[in-house]
Parts: sequence; C-alpha cells; structure tokens
Amino acid sequence: MKNILLFLGSPRRGGNTDILAEAFTNGAKSVGASVERVRLMDLKFSPCIECGGCDDSGTCILKDDFTPFYKKMEEADVVVLSSPMFFYNITAASQAMVERTQAFWVRQYVLKSGKIGGKTRDGIFLSAGATKGKLLFEGSLRVMRYFFDAIGGSLEAAVLVRGVEKKGDIEKQPDVLESAENLGKCAASGGDYSKVQGIWLPGGKS
Ligand SMILES: Cc1cc2nc3c(=O)[nH]c(=O)nc-3n(C[C@H](O)[C@H](O)[C@H](O)COP(=O)(O)O)c2cc1C
Repeated sequence: MKNILLFLGSPRRGGNTDILAEAFTNGAKSVGASVERVRLMDLKFSPCIECGGCDDSGTCILKDDFTPFYKKMEEADVVVLSSPMFFYNITAASQAMVERTQAFWVRQYVLKSGKIGGKTRDGIFLSAGATKGKLLFEGSLRVMRYFFDAIGGSLEAAVLVRGVEKKGDIEKQPDVLESAENLGKCAASGGDYSKVQGIWLPGGKS
C-alpha cells in the first residue's frame, strides 16, 4: 500500500485546489492508498531562517508544527503539493514548507548521507490560477522540480488548471477533476504516468 502525504497550500478552504486535491485523494484511496492531508495554513511554522543549524546534521533545529513532517516525508512514497497560483508562484505557506526541506537538501548534497528515508518518492503538483497565460505555471514548476529533488524524489506529474478564480469554478471543468482522480489512482498503484490523460508531464508543455 502506498503512503501518500498531501500538502494543501491554499488558504481558502474548499477552494479550487482543495477540490482538485480531493479528486486526487479519492482516486488514490479507491485503489487502497493511505493519504494524509495537511493544510499548511493550519500549522504554525516558520520558513527557513538560514541559521545554518542543519549544516552539520541535515536536521532542522527549528521546533514547531512542521517538525513532525520531516519523518512523514521520509516515510512517504508519494508527496503531493496542491497550491493555487499567487503572483505566478505557489502560496507563501507552500513556499515556507518548501524552504524547510533545506535540511533534506543538506543531507543529500552536502553530507551525502544517501536516500532520504532510504527510498525515493514521486512528486505530484496540483495547481490552479485565474488567468490563462501560457507561462502561468512556469516558475512554480521549476520550484517543484527542485523541491521534489531536495526531498529525495522527482516531479513526476502535475494537473495545472487555468481560468478558475471563484471558489468552485473548477467544478465547471469535470475533465480536470477526472484527470486528478486518475492521477491519484496511478500514483497510488505505481502506474505509468504517461498513460493518464490531461495531465502535465516533465518535458511536456505547461
Ligand atoms: C493573492 C492572490 C494572488 C493571485 N495571483 C494570481 C496570479 O498571479 N495568476 C493567476 O492566474 N491567478 C492568481 N490568483 C487567483 C487564484 O490563483 C485563483 O483564484 C485560484 O483558483 C485560487 O485557488 P484556491 O481556491 O484553491 O485558493 C491570485 C489570487 C490571490 C488571492
């Protein structure tokens, strides 16, 4: 059974990326995965303060609500971030979470202490924005590439939804919700992402 950790990056409960995340979760659970979802805005935690506390140990010395998530990430087979586009990037809470994984980056690239949690993991990004520009997700995809690499994984796939602004707008695009559900099934069963319709894949167009 795959162990999936899903970070909800939107401050808006029940908003478009929450709905996307729910479709993904339903798909993953339907094939037996365990999915833990956490809303980042419910956690009291700091972004990286660049204290250098992880430099020698690869362990973040900050103690706050994010602390338990290092172990959860190590244990996860799949890590998912759902975040709307805010100023052409992931939300501030999502970015704070990403920064806190610097300790894992140190572990891998400075201390060279091997795979995080002794295994690799798939990274999935779910996102939505109000506008329809071609480059809407460009910056955030780059962030996701480096984030998933830092946590000992790789960005495997994304569902990127344009033209959704008001809460629930995404319901008007049932095809993207179906893609998110199928992506959940695929991630949970170790399937071939290239077989899932309507998703973004590395090397493809964003
Ligand atoms: C502070 C803020 C900044 C935003 N910046 C962008 C943006 O740069 N590009 C865009 O397409 N939409 C932008 N939006 C719109 C949201 O991405 C959009 O409404 C999205 O559907 C919200 O998802 P949610 O319901 O999951 O929070 C912004 C919204 C807010 C509140």
